[in-house]
Amino acid sequence: MKKTSVSLAFFGAFLACGSQIAQAAAPDWSKVPKRDIQVFHAAVTPIEWVMKKSDHSGRTGINKGETCVGCHEEKGGLNFDMKRLAGKDLEPKGAPKTMSFPVSVQSAYDNENAYIRLTFKAPSGAVEPVDKENDVKVAVMFANDKVTQGAQIGCWATCHGDARTMPGADDKKTKYTKDGAYELMQWRSAKGAKAADGSVTDKRNMEGGTAGVKAEGSKAGDTYTVTFTRKLSGALAEGKATPFGIAVHADRASGRFHHVSMGYTMGFGANGDIKSAKQ
Ligand code: HEC
Repeated sequence: MKKTSVSLAFFGAFLACGSQIAQAAAPDWSKVPKRDIQVFHAAVTPIEWVMKKSDHSGRTGINKGETCVGCHEEKGGLNFDMKRLAGKDLEPKGAPKTMSFPVSVQSAYDNENAYIRLTFKAPSGAVEPVDKENDVKVAVMFANDKVTQGAQIGCWATCHGDARTMPGADDKKTKYTKDGAYELMQWRSAKGAKAADGSVTDKRNMEGGTAGVKAEGSKAGDTYTVTFTRKLSGALAEGKATPFGIAVHADRASGRFHHVSMGYTMGFGANGDIKSAKQ
């Protein structure tokens, strides 16, 4: 009698352990394709600037349905006039030494989770290295279906001229969208820092998200590798491509002094700029 209950308990423990392993099954990243996405210092070019014809002739194309990437990505690089983006007119505070750098993006998914891995060299030479806790912060935002032009304009739907650290703006006002929402996740390099699982709606929320975000990061030499695990739910679903953007705060930068990507799509069992690999 006693013997049976002991072996049952043992069997139960074995089962629990087995299912835990299945849930946390990290992809074999060596088999997942990489795609480089360039991030850049966007200076003071919020959505109001982008959509003002006298500032940005691209507005006409946006209104016709063209994407930022369609006009500004060439042969995997960016065609921005970096001197203009570093100049006094668009960047009154001064630009970082490195205006753009590539982030290598990989994505995989299973029935429960999406796994996203970013690899990059974080440049030094920030304008204001003010973040005392984190050398580097890395964020990914996914737009839901209700964001107007989400697939075209990427994170610019959340980037406004009246948000904190923009010239003359209220220091309390964070990024926001006029409609829809972005699911936001962020890894911070400080030891023991918790991953942010948040959103951008009428304001930015660094917590309260429902994506169950986990993030791990490491640095080898000057290369960072950051891996996010989050639920395949909300803005993400099998059979769907979701608009997303990346932001890296390098060299203790904060606020708008991040390097950002334009808007790309990540397809889960669907075509996209990044095609997530089914596990
Ligand atoms: C139809 C093509 C087109 C689209 C779409 C477009 N742009 Fe542009 N963009 C331009 C052109 C042309 C310039 C340079 C001249 C100017 O500013 O009008 C430019 C300039 C810029 C600049 C300033 C740096 C420079 O090279 O002068 C930024 C920043 C920028 N665009 C961001 C964006 C973003 C962000 C989007 C999407 C929300 C976007 N653009 C969509 C055509 C486009």
